[in-house]
Amino acid sequence: MTILSCENLKKTYLSGEAKVKAVDGVTLAIEKRSFVAITGPSGSGKSTLLHMLGGLENPTSGRIDFQGEALDRYTDDQLSILRRRRFGFVFQAYNLVQELTAYENILLPVMLDGGEPDEKHIQKLIDCLGIGHRLDHLPGAMSGGQQQRVAIARALANKPAILFADEPTGNLDGKSGREVLELLRETSVETGTTLVLVTHDLRIAEQSERILRLEDGRIVFDSLDPLAREEEGAGHA
Ligand SMILES: Nc1ncnc2c1ncn2[C@@H]1O[C@H](COP(=O)(O)OP(=O)(O)OP(=O)(O)O)[C@@H](O)[C@H]1O
Ligand SMILES: [Mg+2]
Repeated sequence: MTILSCENLKKTYLSGEAKVKAVDGVTLAIEKRSFVAITGPSGSGKSTLLHMLGGLENPTSGRIDFQGEALDRYTDDQLSILRRRRFGFVFQAYNLVQELTAYENILLPVMLDGGEPDEKHIQKLIDCLGIGHRLDHLPGAMSGGQQQRVAIARALANKPAILFADEPTGNLDGKSGREVLELLRETSVETGTTLVLVTHDLRIAEQSERILRLEDGRIVFDSLDPLAREEEGAGHA
């Protein structure tokens, strides 16, 4: 079953006089509970695509459907609720709230939603991520890798239907990276979370069920459908 799909998705930025086609016609359907890795060179549009799929940025054109409902039919309030309750997001630059401690950051989405935190679940995330001894620290007093792990705990605290993560192991050493990957996979099985990860990390790509490669804002490779995508890419050139 498809949980998220997009059709001919485009995002154009104006940079002075020049137009930058960050995402240039992406069509895609993501299966529920699947694990998708998005790869591609720097500047190929990975973060832009992820932000649009996660309802954080509006496309210039095209449509996105979550469980068969077009995102552009949601009001701003409905979209915020959808993002808080159903989506988890790990940003490339973590985006932790600097004035809040690690623990407060982790609880923030649950609190904003007026919900009761599932303390057992959150404690498990904290243990798995090895951040128990940093819970009282402000982000400014944590290393990049520690902030990254806090951001991952925050994104999973609500047991999202989809986790969007932008380079979630980018700042971690080999061992921590493997542990994070393990946690993501376990969580995905336990809470039925679909994983959509942007990554340069070959270990992640290898463990995923599907690898997409972006170049110049277009999908040039899809491991589910390699031949069709190659033709599509060639047709554009
Ligand atoms: N807010 C913006 N304004 C103008 N141009 C932008 C903006 N955000 C992204 N771009 C441009 O869009 C293109 C795609 O950027 P994006 O951040 O999606 O790439 P990426 O694949 O995530 O790269 P990286 O691997 O370096 O994170 C780039 O050419 C970038 O310069
Ligand atoms: Mg990026």
